[in-house]
Amino acid sequence: MCGIVGYIGKREALPILMDGLKRLEYRGYDSAGISVFSGGKVVTERAVGKVAELENKINGKKISGCIGIAHTRWATHGKPTEKNAHPHCDCQKNIFLVHNGIIENYKELKEDLEKAGHKFSSETDTEIVAHLIEEYEKQVPLKEAVWRTLAHISGTYGLAIVDQKNPGKIIIARNGSPLVLGVMEDGYIIASDIAPIVCYTDRVIYLDDGEMAELTDESHKITNFKRKKVEKEISKIDWSVEEAEKKGYPHFMLKEITEQPEAVENSIRGRLVAPEGIAKLGGLRDVAEKTRHLKRIVVVSCGTSYYAGLVGKYMLEEYAGIRTDVEHASEFRYRKPLLDENTAVVAISQSGETADTLAAIREAKNKGALTLGIVNVVGSTIARETDAGVYNHAGPEIGVASTKAFTSQLSILALLTLFLGRQREMSLVTGKRIAEELAEIPHLMRRILKKANDIKMIAEKYSEYSNFLYLGRKYNYPIAMEGALKIKEISYVHAEGYPFGEMKHGPIALIDKNFPTMAIATSDSVYEKTLSGIQEVKARSGKVIAIATKGDREIQKMVDDVIYIPKTLEMLTPLLSVIPLQLFAYYCAVSKGLDVDKPRNLAKSVTVE
Ligand code: F6R
Repeated sequence: MCGIVGYIGKREALPILMDGLKRLEYRGYDSAGISVFSGGKVVTERAVGKVAELENKINGKKISGCIGIAHTRWATHGKPTEKNAHPHCDCQKNIFLVHNGIIENYKELKEDLEKAGHKFSSETDTEIVAHLIEEYEKQVPLKEAVWRTLAHISGTYGLAIVDQKNPGKIIIARNGSPLVLGVMEDGYIIASDIAPIVCYTDRVIYLDDGEMAELTDESHKITNFKRKKVEKEISKIDWSVEEAEKKGYPHFMLKEITEQPEAVENSIRGRLVAPEGIAKLGGLRDVAEKTRHLKRIVVVSCGTSYYAGLVGKYMLEEYAGIRTDVEHASEFRYRKPLLDENTAVVAISQSGETADTLAAIREAKNKGALTLGIVNVVGSTIARETDAGVYNHAGPEIGVASTKAFTSQLSILALLTLFLGRQREMSLVTGKRIAEELAEIPHLMRRILKKANDIKMIAEKYSEYSNFLYLGRKYNYPIAMEGALKIKEISYVHAEGYPFGEMKHGPIALIDKNFPTMAIATSDSVYEKTLSGIQEVKARSGKVIAIATKGDREIQKMVDDVIYIPKTLEMLTPLLSVIPLQLFAYYCAVSKGLDVDKPRNLAKSVTVE
């Protein structure tokens, strides 16, 4: 959700900024822009559309200097036009800044600034920050002007600021939007996340909310907004550059779908003790006594991570015997949730930066609940703010549509079920069974992926339909919703994800020969009921594609197309059944010629509310 990059050091800034923007483009691609100190002044270029448009515009221009900031935008306030693209500047065109987040009180501030004579050139909330700094800078030096400005603005922001009158420095500040400072041998790179940083350094400082840093090519000074010096630790990133690149795949999404066996292997490595039927979760060691006495779990998450939470509910209630509620984080924070010290609130988040999930966790903390995180991005805000947690170790997920993060979340939820179940009444036999079956999952995933071409052919056959119903029962009900979300997101096809049993209470009215159904009909405890549902669809001339368990020949007679997946424990079926749905959505989008990794209107990591 908007990406910021900045560089200050001894190298040419422009190539670093452009490379960084490309790596951050999944955060927003409505427009992009750069400001570089070149020939004694700040040169700014902006363009509507993807970073490639900016690149075309800059091509051949002489922009040379060692300090710069850049931005790729996901529009909130103001349409995606060039004048609304970042960097924004003050009246005198001295102060240039890029911003990720939302300035909530911008209207009042804009009115006051206009009365004081400031002229605005965009419709954005961001621009007021540049004018406010300009106003304060009339009386005090830049750094103090920034402090005063920050005291006046409310909302969320990651900011990077340069000032033509103060060459040789970049000021950055964070409140509610992520900002990471990469410490290089010969300078600093700043970015909204580590994707652009890993190419230059593995040493980073994670800025916390309420912190500001003044950077020169040789030093960084971090203070809080009360002007007090803050000592920060330098952390080491464990993601490699190769992991953050496409490695010859046409899209990140396909690469990430294909990486799922390794992602799950990495999620469970060293954590499963199959002979004892237990999960060792180092991140929960310090809270193990608390988790033993928990009476309730509330999962808070959004989108795909929310659907992972729903699968987790089935797992945790059936096998660990703990009441589990799953809430959309965006709703949880606005109601009055009933929580107590016997409740753990578990945030599931790939990015660890989703604003709604973060706000839910903060609310849970205020109410005295234990907060836990299932997070992929190490060092992210949710990971740092929760009391304890488990990292996914799925590696970077760049494709906007979440795939490998989802299955790795499911594997962590299975580990959590084992962990909590064995603290309670789960038997050794059941524990061993889950552990053994979970260890087999990567191998079974590989078998599905080998059939990707068959799924491609089915996707091509159905790619012209503009509506789909996705149905599943029990563990596969959240997978039906996840499958529908995938095809909506990247193929722009309308799809309804529903519990199979609910179909007859309404959605069945939609079914005709032009409204195909994706039915998840694996051989499990609800198989017979699912078959009845399929018959109901067929009786109304609906086409059916079934996801079925290998060896089920009966279903072939009933449906139009079948995609087989291997047999596993019912609770782990979602880790397999989702893969054909991801591939189906992917190949539908490809056959329509859509930009799979950058679907319209979306951005990865939603850091605004
Ligand atoms: C869908 C998707 C989103 C995210 C959601 C939460 O493919 O990627 O629905 O799952 O925005 O993001 P995280 O997990 O980063 O909190």
